[in-house]
Amino acid sequence: MRIHLGSDHAGFALKERVKAYMQAEGHAVTDVGTFDEGSVDYPVYAHAVARAVADGEADFGVLVCGTGLGMAIAANKVRGVRAAQATSPEFARMARLHNDANVVALAGRYTDAATAESILDAFLGTAFEGGRHQRRVDMMDAIGHDETEGE
Ligand code: RB5
Repeated sequence: MRIHLGSDHAGFALKERVKAYMQAEGHAVTDVGTFDEGSVDYPVYAHAVARAVADGEADFGVLVCGTGLGMAIAANKVRGVRAAQATSPEFARMARLHNDANVVALAGRYTDAATAESILDAFLGTAFEGGRHQRRVDMMDAIGHDETEGE
C-alpha cells in the first residue's frame, strides 16, 4: 500500500520505528517529516499527510505525535479524511470496520514499538464493513460541507 507518514518531535522516534516496520512489510512509505527531535508544530505534518490521502496520492496516512490527539484533530480538518487516534489494535480495527478511517494517529509518548506494529497490522489489515456503516460515514463526511445551519 502507499502510505504517507508524518510526525512531530514527540512522535519522531516512534515514526522511525514504524517506518522501518511498514517498509519491511512491503509498503511504499512516503515520510513527510519531521526528521529530527527539534521542536516543530504537528499541524504542519498532519496537513501534509491528510492532503495526500484526500488527493488519492496515498491509500492511508499514519501520523505520530505525543498523544496522537493533535494529529487526529488537525487531519480531520481536511475533507475526506477520517483520522482516528488509536492506542490499541482493537480500536484500530474498529476504526476501519465501522468508521472507514483512512488515517491512524499514534501516541509516541504512550505507545511502544511492538504495540504500534500491532496497531498498524490491525489498521492496514482490516477492511471497512460497509452496509449500515456506509450511511453513517457519508453523514460524517457531509458535516460542514452541505449544512444548512443558520437558514
Ligand atoms: C508536543 O509537546 C505535543 O503537544 C504533541 O506532540 C501532541 O501530543 C499534541 O497533540
